[in-house]
Amino acid sequence: NKKYDYLIVGAGLFGSVFAHEATKQGKKCLVIDKRNHAGGNIHCENIEGINVHKYGAHIFHTNDKGLWDYVNQFVEFNRYTNSPVAIHEDKLYNLPFNMNTFYQLWGVKTPQEAMDKIEEQVKESGITDPQNLEEQAISLVGKDIYYKLIKGYTEKQWGRKATELPAFIIKRLPVRFTYDNNYFNDKYQGIPIGGYNKLTEGLLEGIEVKLGVDFFASKQEYESLCDTVVFTGKIDEYYDFRFGELEYRSLHFEHQTLDIENYQGNAVVNYTEAHIPYTRIIEHKHFEFGKQDKTVITHEYPAEWKSGMESYYPVNDEINSLKFKQYNKLAEKEANVIFGGRLAEYKYYDMHQVIASALKHFKN
Ligand code: FDA
Repeated sequence: NKKYDYLIVGAGLFGSVFAHEATKQGKKCLVIDKRNHAGGNIHCENIEGINVHKYGAHIFHTNDKGLWDYVNQFVEFNRYTNSPVAIHEDKLYNLPFNMNTFYQLWGVKTPQEAMDKIEEQVKESGITDPQNLEEQAISLVGKDIYYKLIKGYTEKQWGRKATELPAFIIKRLPVRFTYDNNYFNDKYQGIPIGGYNKLTEGLLEGIEVKLGVDFFASKQEYESLCDTVVFTGKIDEYYDFRFGELEYRSLHFEHQTLDIENYQGNAVVNYTEAHIPYTRIIEHKHFEFGKQDKTVITHEYPAEWKSGMESYYPVNDEINSLKFKQYNKLAEKEANVIFGGRLAEYKYYDMHQVIASALKHFKN
């Protein structure tokens, strides 16, 4: 008999939810993570009493009442509503594109006026068969929204000109003809009161966790301890990169503590001009309606990913998708390893999706 039923590699959301469910069923789990903290990318660092989202801004949102209740059993969520603003040439615009934005762009006040304006610009463009992202966006929303709010931001994010990006990246550009700045359409959204670490702590309560441990440094030893491995690290690394490395887009964060109470009045401000090197500034205290004397802001820069860097967004182009398929074929044949989470499935997952996936994997 092995010491553990499950060895869980990665204390992120996937690993933590899986460990929690397995423990509840009387299974013995060991969770390891190579970082010196649990939580994976939702981990926050407390600076000046403010929960700083170290790996990017995280806003929980879902339409699924079951998932909302699930997370709220560990920590109560607040009523934070994501309503980012965008700055372009010193002018401020509400996001997502809605009646406030259209008023700011054109001075129009009624939905009909806004619809007419967009239709007029779409017609004027004459684009019927968009060949790249730029043409695609203009054919959907016209030139004003595109040039002021989409072009620069998108080019920074992808590190390429919009005319060199494929049209399929943008399938739809949601526009709303109501005065509604709520970024998400989901029924439930919020931030854990006291921060995301509370969620992680709740999930991992009573479970053995070892931090600062890389699975690959003593793989055989760890495997010998358990019946089943739940692997939430990179699938290509698991197989020694034999089909080549899966590529990602990365980000670079610059955190700053400022000796003022309120820097920008909003948690998220996007900078949509191409010549400004960062894409957004996050002011963390506003996620929790903080009243601290100081504030912490983060400039978020897109970064070309190189091996060894933090992997944020999978690049789901043809080459990488093919590579992933090859790895996944091997993974499917493993009898005692479960692969799950954003790195093992090489997939962009929102938090509620990764929780749903972990719950489903455990059931199976
Ligand atoms: P995660 O990466 O969190 O965990 C994997 C863990 O495995 C890591 O802790 C890692 O250290 C560990 N590990 C890897 N290899 C290992 C090894 N060899 N040995 C030991 N440990 C190893 N979602 C949302 O709903 N709302 C939002 O606002 C955002 N915002 C957001 C911003 C940015 C910039 C990104 C990139 C992502 C988001 N997300 C999001 C998505 C969210 O971050 C994501 O759904 C979860 O964090 C994924 O959890 P996982 O457990 O899959 O991976």
